Amino acid sequence: MMILGLETSCDETAAAVVEDGRHAHSSVVASQIDVHKAYGGVVPEVAARSHIEVVLPVIHEALDKAGVTWDQIDGIAVTHGPGLLGSLLMGTLTARTLALAHHKPLYAVNHVVAHTFANALVPETAGFEPDIFPLLSLSASGKHSELLLFDSPLEYRLLGSTRDDAAGEAFDKVARMLGLPYPGGPQIGKLALQGNEQAFQLPTARLDNSYDFSFSGLKTAVLRGLQTAIGGDFRTPSAELPDRLTDQQKADMAASFQRTVCETLAGHLRRAAAQFQPKTVVIAGGVAANGRLRKEVSRQLPYNINYAPMPYCTDNGAMIGAMGYHLAQAGLTTSPYELTTDPSLGF
Ligand code: KG4
Ligand code: ZN
Repeated sequence: MMILGLETSCDETAAAVVEDGRHAHSSVVASQIDVHKAYGGVVPEVAARSHIEVVLPVIHEALDKAGVTWDQIDGIAVTHGPGLLGSLLMGTLTARTLALAHHKPLYAVNHVVAHTFANALVPETAGFEPDIFPLLSLSASGKHSELLLFDSPLEYRLLGSTRDDAAGEAFDKVARMLGLPYPGGPQIGKLALQGNEQAFQLPTARLDNSYDFSFSGLKTAVLRGLQTAIGGDFRTPSAELPDRLTDQQKADMAASFQRTVCETLAGHLRRAAAQFQPKTVVIAGGVAANGRLRKEVSRQLPYNINYAPMPYCTDNGAMIGAMGYHLAQAGLTTSPYELTTDPSLGF
């Protein structure tokens, strides 16, 4: 079964052709990073406009690269939430129109849940077959940090989520304090290689044994640590930090911050694995591309983890197509006349 997956929930316009939920025949991602860099983050109105410009070319390229025509597509899967309203509308309106024009069934996909399905695309695995469940997933990106427990591809429950900033958002904000461009995660990862990860001792939030996360206190601790490092106090504007910090101080903070976040994420995963005894553990979302996190997860958990390739960790259409396959198997179509968008779609 061949599914066209379409993703436009934030600043990436992405389409992919996925067979049977596990073979991506193509995956095209048009990133708007350069457009948003000037503002230090994503500007919703600009994002929506950029999707309009590229969505059809991206879909055509995905079909071309996969070497398929519309006749060979069995269904269209599209992200309908959570995300930015204008961006989601562009994707869902496009998918609804294409579903009507080409007489294809339409599948509505939850973006956060779909991140986990990137792991079904790993060639070394058997895909999301029944014997891999229960599956424990840490999904961490720029807008969400969730621990999910799957009993089957479409039966999942939320064990914990962030109470304030998402993990990726914390990477992006700390990167900004260090004068690094958006998106900050990959930049911090690179700079951290030159730093001492024990140089700064940063706090981790303790949330009474729950599986929730909190990263805003850590972000403030980074700010205070950097202000102190340059001899300032809490009134020193963060905009002054990049020019007054030495390269070594920046690298040390990048490494210390990254260690703290990775230890926290992996620690939650380890506790949840001990309690729920899943057969499989995966990590997903943009932050799952972080090498230090992968190392920490492998160190803390007694599981043989097949990590998804980097391009399937950040936003892409293949994970949408992979989840769409399972919705198709379950007969969960949505009418193109009725598909809605939900910016704060939950679980
Ligand atoms: O999943 P994603 O592409 O989009 C959202 O759904 O948010 O995740 C993007 C987030 C950004 O915050 C980015 O800084 C972070 O993932 N990220 C990383 C890395 N690559 C991307 N964080 C840490 N290390 C990375 N290598
Ligand atoms: Zn995402």
